[in-house]
Amino acid sequence: MSLRGFIYLHQDESLIGMVRQNRSPKGLFDPYYVPEKLLHRNRELDEIKGIYRDSYEEDYGVNCLVHGITGVGMTVFSRYFLTKLTPHHFDAHTVYVDARRKDVLEIVAELNDKIHRETNTPITVAFDLDVLWMQFKRMAASATKKTVFVVDGIDETNEEIYSKLAHLSKEIRASTIGVLNSHDYRLLTKGHATKVAYDFEIPLDTYTQSQLYEIVRQRVEDTFPLGLTEEVVRYITDCVIEFDAGKPRTSVEALKALWPMASTGQEVTSDAVRAATSNITTAAQDMDYMDTIDTISMNDFMTLLVLESLAQHLMTYKTETYIDRKTLNELVMIKCEELGVRFVPEDIEKSLQTMIFQSIVFESGYSRNLLYLIAPPEILYDASLGLRRELSRRK
Ligand SMILES: Nc1ncnc2c1ncn2[C@@H]1O[C@H](COP(=O)(O)OP(=O)(O)OP(=O)(O)O)[C@@H](O)[C@H]1O
Ligand SMILES: [Mg+2]
Repeated sequence: MSLRGFIYLHQDESLIGMVRQNRSPKGLFDPYYVPEKLLHRNRELDEIKGIYRDSYEEDYGVNCLVHGITGVGMTVFSRYFLTKLTPHHFDAHTVYVDARRKDVLEIVAELNDKIHRETNTPITVAFDLDVLWMQFKRMAASATKKTVFVVDGIDETNEEIYSKLAHLSKEIRASTIGVLNSHDYRLLTKGHATKVAYDFEIPLDTYTQSQLYEIVRQRVEDTFPLGLTEEVVRYITDCVIEFDAGKPRTSVEALKALWPMASTGQEVTSDAVRAATSNITTAAQDMDYMDTIDTISMNDFMTLLVLESLAQHLMTYKTETYIDRKTLNELVMIKCEELGVRFVPEDIEKSLQTMIFQSIVFESGYSRNLLYLIAPPEILYDASLGLRRELSRRK
């Protein structure tokens, strides 16, 4: 190696070393973790920044509702805006309260506590709701800077306090962001007795395959000291898109399950990944494979052979989660030769289509060429081999 190459190599190594030192499991275990960059929310972030900038410059208060299906990233969106964008672009106080599972008194006490902390003012102890609210109101109104309040987890039990805050914010030219899931959003804004007052709403959509993939990749890079393989990241993404509407929360849960194994340097096998994603795929896994395979393979020798080859491959290569169509074709061809059966490539495709339709085999959303299973390959292997032998005997 040339000297230059040597230096480059070592520069790279020290760079990698630096990055890796920053990796921490916080990104998996801290519910309020905010990544350095929030991926694929640029449009929504620009929108909320624009809304807020206008109100800031023109000196009026706005109330915004952020909503989406649970686990899509509402908390991280609001916290990213509050902790990364607001301090960077505006000279404002920021107050975040997670209202979930807290009673009204706790919520008001926390608002009061936090606004006092922001303004560096000592607090007078109080336990009475009205007194606390008055204290909070007085402090919020007299703050020299404008304030952005985020109330996360609005639902039936606490909407009143959010509404009250939203009204107050108009009076004192502060702004609020109310965060709630789609269910509560419909309940509280579309019902007859709609009370929640807001000026704007920012709906958060679920992610596409490639967007979710990048989010998972980013989280792996932020947290796993030794990284994870491409296959694992892809497989988690595939499962979450296929079985859980592409919610990032679910993929972070799967990463959490892999963390103990991966962080101690153990090889992450495909069995471990399947176990880590098993709670999303349970509905599909509850089926009786033997029965299903038995039905679809009625006199269909080829389907059994294809499944047997596919499962066998994944059993043999413990870290592989996918098999590509070409490899599968070759494996089936070899099996056909061994058994003296005529090999017809079109039949493989037909068999695959049947099994994909029956949710035994899945196509990766990443590339149709990649196939995966969610059931342990051993089970499918035993079932298909057993049935195939029986079929041979019968003939
Ligand atoms: N665009 C994104 N970039 C990076 N990480 C994201 C993104 N969207 C969501 N996440 C991550 O997904 C996980 C779930 O997000 P979050 O906790 O914000 O969900 P939520 O919508 O508030 O769910 P809940 O309904 O349970 O309150 C978090 O780890 C979050 O950091
Ligand atoms: Mg949340």
